[in-house]
Amino acid sequence: MNKLKPNFFSAPILSNQKIGKNYFCLKVKTPQNIDQVEPGQFAMLRGKWNYDPLLPRPLSIARAEKFQLDFIYEVRGRGTHLLSLMQPPREIEILAPLGNSFPPPENSLPLLLAGGIGFPPLYFYQQKYGGKLLAGFQTNPELDLFSDKIIATDDGSLGFKGNVLQLLESCTEINNYSTIMACGPRIMLKQLKNRCSPLQCNLFLSLEEKMACGTGLCHGCAVKSRQNDYFKICTDGPIFKSSDVNLEE
Ligand SMILES: Cc1cc2nc3c(=O)[nH]c(=O)nc-3n(C[C@H](O)[C@H](O)[C@H](O)COP(=O)(O)OP(=O)(O)OC[C@H]3O[C@@H](n4cnc5c(N)ncnc54)[C@H](O)[C@@H]3O)c2cc1C
Ligand code: FES
Repeated sequence: MNKLKPNFFSAPILSNQKIGKNYFCLKVKTPQNIDQVEPGQFAMLRGKWNYDPLLPRPLSIARAEKFQLDFIYEVRGRGTHLLSLMQPPREIEILAPLGNSFPPPENSLPLLLAGGIGFPPLYFYQQKYGGKLLAGFQTNPELDLFSDKIIATDDGSLGFKGNVLQLLESCTEINNYSTIMACGPRIMLKQLKNRCSPLQCNLFLSLEEKMACGTGLCHGCAVKSRQNDYFKICTDGPIFKSSDVNLEE
């Protein structure tokens, strides 16, 4: 159980550095000790810019220690571009921690599968608990965080040429894992769910849809449940047991 309640605060930026081709690492100072934040939880962030974009942007927490939160993000559009320009001593408005988290390991370490910007929560998990991490990108992300051996790129510019599921089949016996955790594009998660359905493993998926509020108010982040009802990803997730969600729509 996560003990920390979501808190809205203005966080002084400690650093915001380019760490890869289009990737940045943002470190902020928090007003309270956030040691209890767990991998998989996220935050809604907004810089003190004008009204465009108006809505905060969701980012997974990549590290939480004492009075510091780290985020790793890819610049994709206007929000993340503006975020990348913010430097100390400016402050960011943050609502955190939000959502549930990946379960800590029980008897054995899990397999962690990341696609694109899905890697920060799994990177946090691996740093905190361990586990075998495989990560796929469209092209070389030029990040200094991983060994080439665990990377797949669609264009073959780094590591294995192909996607992360093809890398998985080429280097690991999936049956050896009783727990698999994944975060990435919907198509990757769908394929992984199908691959795992005949296996006896617990598959946990982190769903990263567009979010407007992050607090359950706008209903903008709905995903269909197994019973054809709806979950709100921001408050019921973002992590779900694969059998609980219907990813076909
Ligand atoms: C729970 C959660 C955790 C996330 N964690 C991270 C993280 O740790 N690091 C990171 O880099 N990004 C993460 N994202 C995605 C991030 O929120 C978006 O990339 C960001 O909001 C884009 O904002 P923007 O204004 O720069 O781009 P926009 O102009 O809003 O969009 C630019 C492009 O990105 C696409 N896009 C926007 N949001 C998403 C999304 N959620 N998933 C897929 N495509 C999207 C748009 O369709 C568009 O093509 C997370 C999303 C969620 C919901
Ligand atoms: S983002 Fe508003 S309900 Fe989930």
